[in-house]
Amino acid sequence: MTLRCFVIGHPIAHSRSPLIHGTWLEQHGLDGSYERIDVAPSELPGFVARIRAGAFAGGNVTVPHKEAMLPLLDEVSAAARAIGAVNTIWCENGRLYGDNTDAAGFLGHLDAIAPGWQERVRTALLIGSGGAARAIAYGLKSRGVARIILANRGRERAKELARVLGAPLQARDWDERDALVGEADLIVNTTSLGMKGQPPLALDLARLRPGTLVDDIVYVPLKTALLTQAQQRGGVIVDGLGMLLHQAVPGFARWFGVTPAVTPALRARLERDILGA
Ligand SMILES: NC(=O)c1ccc[n+]([C@@H]2O[C@H](COP(=O)([O-])OP(=O)(O)OC[C@H]3O[C@@H](n4cnc5c(N)ncnc54)[C@H](OP(=O)(O)O)[C@@H]3O)[C@@H](O)[C@H]2O)c1
Repeated sequence: MTLRCFVIGHPIAHSRSPLIHGTWLEQHGLDGSYERIDVAPSELPGFVARIRAGAFAGGNVTVPHKEAMLPLLDEVSAAARAIGAVNTIWCENGRLYGDNTDAAGFLGHLDAIAPGWQERVRTALLIGSGGAARAIAYGLKSRGVARIILANRGRERAKELARVLGAPLQARDWDERDALVGEADLIVNTTSLGMKGQPPLALDLARLRPGTLVDDIVYVPLKTALLTQAQQRGGVIVDGLGMLLHQAVPGFARWFGVTPAVTPALRARLERDILGA
């Protein structure tokens, strides 16, 4: 029987998850499918009922359902509970389970690019405090990063995130971000700034120390202006496509029973798609 999986969101037309999972299905010769399904917020409970009835093995959940899905599940992983959102769900014997793999995806890519990074990273500076920042801060805390600074345009949101996840998170003012660059061993842009069609992230890298890791989770374009500038100043750059690829691994393993690899060929396929967009 074909195992059917999905990515749901609203809108969903631009999701690249079908290309990732489709590549793995093809590579492993599995009898499975992974489809993009547009589900409006009012349709979410009805869609969940279809999953419970056995129409799907599981799938990914994206904007605007990542938080709304939580109370509809039977069991939620510790990561998803702490992050307050799910992006991966699966059904077993009529019970629905949820996880959030964004933290694992972020860390998986960082591990691949800069093995042993956590021995060098004492202070992390996160620009932004939205959903992605929450997952990344949770992941960095789980790896024992000693100081995690949040600089968000809206200070209250940063303060709230620091309160929810606790020490070693701390909120600082948006206007302090340029000065904080000099204190950071890892800088992450978790905002949508720098994405195609958005203004660039205004961050002055004059104080960047050579060897500092600079990670931009935006992946369209593949190399944002932030990454280009960081590289010119001796930073070690980490792009957002790697996080997207790595966050997909646990879901595929759960639904199809095979742990897929993030290979250069998969990455090249996604790069072609992004460049052609
Ligand atoms: N690579 C990956 O796998 C991956 C995974 C998840 C997300 N992402 C990307 O990460 C980005 C953020 O996603 P999210 O889910 O965290 O979104 P979100 O919850 O809506 O948060 C957006 C963040 O961006 C900030 N922001 C937006 N416009 C801004 C502006 N003009 N000036 C300053 N700050 C601004 C917001 O600040 P305020 O609080 O002040 O509004 C907030 O901190 C998106 O581009 C998404 O595609 C990538």
